[in-house]
Amino acid sequence: MTKINTTPATAANPDVAAASAQFLTPVVLGLQALAVNGKQAHWNVRGANFIAIHELLDSVVSNAQAGADQAAERIVALGLPIDARVSTVAAKTTPSAVPAGFTQWDALIRNVITDMDIVIADVQAAIDGLDEFDLTSQDIAIGIKESLEKDRWFLFAHLAE
Ligand SMILES: [Fe+2]
Repeated sequence: MTKINTTPATAANPDVAAASAQFLTPVVLGLQALAVNGKQAHWNVRGANFIAIHELLDSVVSNAQAGADQAAERIVALGLPIDARVSTVAAKTTPSAVPAGFTQWDALIRNVITDMDIVIADVQAAIDGLDEFDLTSQDIAIGIKESLEKDRWFLFAHLAE
């Protein structure tokens, strides 16, 4: 019978797992927060561009969830757990710029972009930091950055002259 190695792929180099967790965990938490606050914006947007922004914000949410899933599962694939409980997300992320209550679409776009820029900064730190540790984890961060910046453009284009 073939013997299967059940230890994580990078058990021989714990630095890879530790660095991936160090740099990808803030990305996971930031994206989970963006997903929750993006829904808040999706529900409370008001004004002339309601339907466009309402629907666009749902794509921001689903892309944030997909990115969080990829980053979290990379950490777990390397043998470490992820703590993305709601209390942890709240404690370790910047409070959202999205307000409570109905908000006009143009102000709300600025608020969501403010939130996204905080996540993008963490993603950039992950790309830079992972360069010397693990190119596979870095590749996930690069993909997340591409997706976030595309969504940022889709939002920003409503305001651009
Ligand atoms: Fe909805």
